Amino acid sequence: MTEVVGLVGNPSSPHEEGRRAKDVLEAARNRVAAALACRPREIVFTGSGTEASQLGLLGVARARHDVSPRVVVGAVEHPAILDAADLLGREGFELVVVPPTPDGRIEPDRLLEAIAPGAAVVALMLANHETGAIMPVAEVAGMLAARDVPLVCDACLGPGRLPVRVTDLGADVVAFSAHKFNGPKGIGMLRVARGVRVRPLWSGGLQEERLRPGTENVAGAVGLACALEDAIEDTSRRARRYATLLRCFLDRLVGLDDWTRVGPEEACLPGVATLEVGGIEGEAAMINLDLEGVAVATGSTCALGASEPSATLRAMGFDRRRAARTLRISIGEGLDGPRVEEAAACVADVVRRLRSLGRA
Ligand SMILES: Cc1ncc(COP(=O)(O)O)c(C=O)c1O
Repeated sequence: MTEVVGLVGNPSSPHEEGRRAKDVLEAARNRVAAALACRPREIVFTGSGTEASQLGLLGVARARHDVSPRVVVGAVEHPAILDAADLLGREGFELVVVPPTPDGRIEPDRLLEAIAPGAAVVALMLANHETGAIMPVAEVAGMLAARDVPLVCDACLGPGRLPVRVTDLGADVVAFSAHKFNGPKGIGMLRVARGVRVRPLWSGGLQEERLRPGTENVAGAVGLACALEDAIEDTSRRARRYATLLRCFLDRLVGLDDWTRVGPEEACLPGVATLEVGGIEGEAAMINLDLEGVAVATGSTCALGASEPSATLRAMGFDRRRAARTLRISIGEGLDGPRVEEAAACVADVVRRLRSLGRA
């Protein structure tokens, strides 16, 4: 990161300070492209994974409306994709949302059926952020390539957990978010394969091959490049470690009754799991665990005073009551065996305490 200290120029300015900033930005782009095995001109820096996913889906759909008005997305996508898909529906696109299997996977044949009349674009994430279900991205990408339909892949959770080079995924348009692999917050990127048409979301500047107007976040791009290189190089070690730590966490819960893991038994993102725990409210457990220094999430969000299941759980058939008793566990860097065991013991204690209060 030393290259960004004292960097005051704007990469779009022609003077020396500007050229220095531009050189640093382009060096970051080259490193990202080398790490993913693609061309530097295919990398578009954005402000987040959400923005990258939306630029991918909205941008490709709008640019290809002349080819087909149909847009196909999996029902367990992140809200970044689902909300963009809804917007396309309101713009007049014919939106097809493909339901998951009961354990939260999207089957390639269901996607293929949905694109039978042709499609402008398909979105399929690499792995789900709640269940950890890994989606058949490479297989679907191959099937779509044969039909000339671009695939947009939200691969935000991939780096450091799964292979994400262009040759691994095969998708034409792939979104990443730096903070998901220990990079800085507020920077994401989209890889757009050469030849795929994308319409920018905004106007007002010529930056990023005209696809993302606005002065670039140079320091963020350097941070993203460093974190991506580290994550890709270290994928097999991190993936093994996160899977072992999650197993260790779940093993520690065996003494606790009435809980199950939500999602597929096989092919799960290392270190990510949602648990359905009987007799508790996830929100109350989350607050109690936070007081004990353990950070977890729940699959239900409080909106306007009522709790609503997340889109993923809703698509998997969870009602409010079931979604409200879920806890989402995420293992990442900075955790070790003793800390994870301690966290699991804490979860078990809090669950027992909440259950006894419920019975009182
Ligand atoms: C699968 C997935 N996609 C997209 C995003 C959005 O990324 P960002 O927070 O950078 O907007 C997230 C973040 O939680 C995610 O988990």
